[in-house]
Amino acid sequence: MASAWRCMLVTALLSFVHGASPVHAVCNKTVGTRTFEQCQDLAALGATYAWSLNNDTNSVDFAFSEDMQVTGGWIGWGINPTKGPNMEGTQALIAFKNGTSLIVMEYDVTNAVKDGAPLLPTLVSVKYSNLSAVMVKTTVTIFGTFPLGAGKAATVDHVWNRGRSVNPITFELAEHPLAPANLASVGTVDLATGIASVVGPPHQKLENAHGVISAVAWGILVPIGVMAARYLRPFPWADPLWFYLHITCQLTGYTLGVVGWGLGLQLQKYASPIKYFHRNVGISIFVFATLQVLAMVLRPKRGSKHRRYWNMYHHTVGYATIILSIVNIFEGLDLLQPESKWKDAYIGVLVALAVIAALLETAAWVAWLRRSKGRIPESPPPPHLGSKAKDALEP
Ligand SMILES: *[C@@H]1O[C@H](CO)[C@@H](O)[C@H](O)[C@H]1NC(C)=O
Ligand SMILES: *[C@@H]1O[C@H](CO)[C@@H](O)[C@H](O)[C@H]1NC(C)=O
Ligand SMILES: *[C@@H]1O[C@H](CO)[C@@H](O)[C@H](O)[C@H]1NC(C)=O
Ligand SMILES: *[C@@H]1O[C@H](CO)[C@@H](O)[C@H](O)[C@H]1NC(C)=O
Repeated sequence: MASAWRCMLVTALLSFVHGASPVHAVCNKTVGTRTFEQCQDLAALGATYAWSLNNDTNSVDFAFSEDMQVTGGWIGWGINPTKGPNMEGTQALIAFKNGTSLIVMEYDVTNAVKDGAPLLPTLVSVKYSNLSAVMVKTTVTIFGTFPLGAGKAATVDHVWNRGRSVNPITFELAEHPLAPANLASVGTVDLATGIASVVGPPHQKLENAHGVISAVAWGILVPIGVMAARYLRPFPWADPLWFYLHITCQLTGYTLGVVGWGLGLQLQKYASPIKYFHRNVGISIFVFATLQVLAMVLRPKRGSKHRRYWNMYHHTVGYATIILSIVNIFEGLDLLQPESKWKDAYIGVLVALAVIAALLETAAWVAWLRRSKGRIPESPPPPHLGSKAKDALEP
């Protein structure tokens, strides 16, 4: 029992620490006992980089610092001399604990590694020298020196990351997490001027566009369109207004949604591994929504005996689409892990829509009960069945 409580307490503390906003590193030209000419906060993972140019030897002394988070993990930094600010091709220096001592080893992050081959220590093409590492709490600093091409610009493409474990025998590195910060930890810096160009991963903009467009289309416009149909339809004054609102929201939502869906299909090129659940739910939403648009065209005439079945079908597929959309938006938020304000904002919109729907639902039922003047119905129909509103497509 006591251990169960301890376990719960530890879990609660861990989740608190985990949920706390990450400490933003501030670079310091003085690192340990050494002082460098310049320093810089890197774009992701709270890492910092300090360096000095040795003009006479044409080399760079540097100190790279990053929080390893767990003592058994690894942190790494490296120059990518051939493929720009990308993981593939990086000539990496990795620091981790070998028993009790902190060591630095070289790793060549080849194309095969990107495809899943184990990442093992090997010689690299960049002639790093004078390597050492120190650890203060869980923050590790790698010190070293590397040569600059004589007479060449002092601009380097560099990449950094961290992971949670290292094989103690082979020194194979466990893969780093695939959270956005771990994918954005690349950059280019001009060591002479200290000017950094921050480059997000090439698909960051695509991800953002996919997320925002899809959430607005499927997660906001389409539910509002359904609410327009359900709650305005009973009122004679709102006929055929409700229908035009409904069809405008749904067609705008569908058009934008298909754009967002197309961007999502593009994103699959970068997804590693492919997010099958999110993809399959996305495809289902597209199919259902397309059926809804086609159903408009194939709708039986009002008064036709098939019209009741058509209505049931239209409503069922519509509600299923909305439920799938909401599920997939939260799934997408978990995959992209944007700042928490985006998830909070979407939850806020959903709650607002739900409160409005609940109020309108109550109002519609009260109005319906009043109209039926004390007649106690066995099972009151949904509000729109009591409506005498015309079918607005044939107004
Ligand atoms: C930088 O680090 C040195 C030595 O660790 C420390 O004395 C100094 O206060 C730090 N400067 C800043 C701005 O944090
Ligand atoms: C090396 O050269 C750079 C740019 O040419 C200059 O900013 C820096 O002060 C020089 N460093 C030393 C130690 O002379
Ligand atoms: C790792 O530690 C073991 C045992 O202490 C030692 O024999 C080995 O040389 C170390 N390896 C490296 C690369 O430092
Ligand atoms: C090597 O590193 C030490 C500190 O670890 C530093 O004092 C020294 O200047 C470095 N040597 C070269 C050649 O960069």
